[in-house]
Amino acid sequence: MSGSLQDEIKQLKDEKNAIILAHNYQPKEIQEIADFLGDSLELCMKAAEIEDKDLVIFCGVDFMAETAYILNPDKKIVIPDLEAECPMAHMLPEDALLKAKEEHPDAGVILYVNSIAEAKQHADTLCTSANALKVTESLPQDEILFGPDNNLGSNVAKQTSKEIIPVPKGGHCYVHKLFHVEDVELKRKQHPNAEIICHPECNIDVQEACDKVLSTGGMLKYIAQSDKDEFVIGTEVDMITRLESEISGKKLYPLLEGAICSTMKLHTLEKVRDALKNEEPQVTVPKEIAEKSLKATKHMLEVSK
Ligand code: 13P
Ligand code: SF4
Repeated sequence: MSGSLQDEIKQLKDEKNAIILAHNYQPKEIQEIADFLGDSLELCMKAAEIEDKDLVIFCGVDFMAETAYILNPDKKIVIPDLEAECPMAHMLPEDALLKAKEEHPDAGVILYVNSIAEAKQHADTLCTSANALKVTESLPQDEILFGPDNNLGSNVAKQTSKEIIPVPKGGHCYVHKLFHVEDVELKRKQHPNAEIICHPECNIDVQEACDKVLSTGGMLKYIAQSDKDEFVIGTEVDMITRLESEISGKKLYPLLEGAICSTMKLHTLEKVRDALKNEEPQVTVPKEIAEKSLKATKHMLEVSK
């Protein structure tokens, strides 16, 4: 069944001059049909260089597809399931950011790319988990409003002399909140030779208990070049699917099997086929918001070169 569906998708993709972009947390069958797989930064960079394509099918969550639209307002950006939202991105509404800016008028504003476009338009720059420190150091201000992820903010705060002010207080990813220090301790006992890597969206005590803290793209690069052959992966479980498809000969264990981002899993092959056929549901951002958000998005891409 899925074989013929995959063939149908390939054929439609050619007919429509389309490209399928997918995040590392997508299920295996979506990873298999994607033209490009990556972390948030890699997807953003790819979205910035797709002039030759007419249609983009984005298998990820809402803020990722919105970023692709902000970078390509003249293209059709289609998300197979419109319900695929990142709850963390919605924890920082525009008015909360504006209030924080009023309270800290001299602060630079860095928003995690996991944020809604209405908030992004008021940021000086954006960041992902792959470049957050570099982006922070690129701003002239010593005081930085940073949101919505408090854990990524704490990760940066440990490495910079700048003052990081979290906005909103308590902004988090529910998937990465599932990990606890006890899980790290258990995996150390079960796999004493394994290196334990987690994502910076994990709580800071979990980050400190692990051996390394990396973005999903960073995990792939690090493990591919490492001499070690056993790793525990502290992020969404399908990251292991991605790692296993790229790297052979390594033993990979999830830090927690139940770490599943449910909205990432809403995309199916059937929905991808229908998205290609119907060229909808489309993701758009109002023109003025998209234009204002482009400045921060381009700043991040420039700093990340
Ligand atoms: P990455 O940019 O590391 O892929 O992270 C995106 C994300 O949403 C993690 O939860
Ligand atoms: Fe959002 Fe967390 Fe899912 Fe990443 S894993 S998309 S931060 S809910």
